[in-house]
Amino acid sequence: MSRLDSFIRRLEAQRTVLNWAAAAIQGRDGLVLELGLGNGRTYDHLRELLPNRDIHVFERHPQANPQSTPPAHLLVVGDMAETLPAFANRHGAAAALIHVDVTTGAPERDAIAFSWLPAHTAALALPGAIVLSGWPLAHDQLEPMALPQGVPAERYFAYRRAG
Ligand SMILES: C[S@@+](CC[C@H](N)C(=O)[O-])C[C@H]1O[C@@H](n2cnc3c(N)ncnc32)[C@H](O)[C@@H]1O
Repeated sequence: MSRLDSFIRRLEAQRTVLNWAAAAIQGRDGLVLELGLGNGRTYDHLRELLPNRDIHVFERHPQANPQSTPPAHLLVVGDMAETLPAFANRHGAAAALIHVDVTTGAPERDAIAFSWLPAHTAALALPGAIVLSGWPLAHDQLEPMALPQGVPAERYFAYRRAG
């Protein structure tokens, strides 16, 4: 498969999974956390799906399309290795949905480069919260969930926070 085909399939899977998770948290309290603003595409999609939620976005170098830049009070600027624990100290486990969209571009490198991320993510998730990621998150409090129909296994990863 060409890299273009692979990229398109990843984005399709991402959209399907975000739509599914947003529907699944309807009626449940909790923040939404977007880990990695990038161009702001998935933030913009979440904002459209969940217009009444506070979506806190974490990003080291915010350079998104201005139309997809979160308001300053919902943008947490800095290295997530530091900003996620600081946010957890302020808010505790307060998220109903967390979307992890940071990557080095190679899944086998991500688990090493972001070895701290699964624990920081689990600490922010309410019991029963949904955590989505483009690469596997290994943590004993994050229980793998079946992906929605149409998303091939291992193209995206979904977890439910135990509790
Ligand atoms: C794949 S992009 C996010 C794409 C975005 N969700 C979108 O749909 O446009 C990953 C982002 O994570 C950010 N990032 C990577 N490591 C980070 C870290 N340790 N702390 C904060 N931001 C980080 C990068 O700067 C980059 O903007």
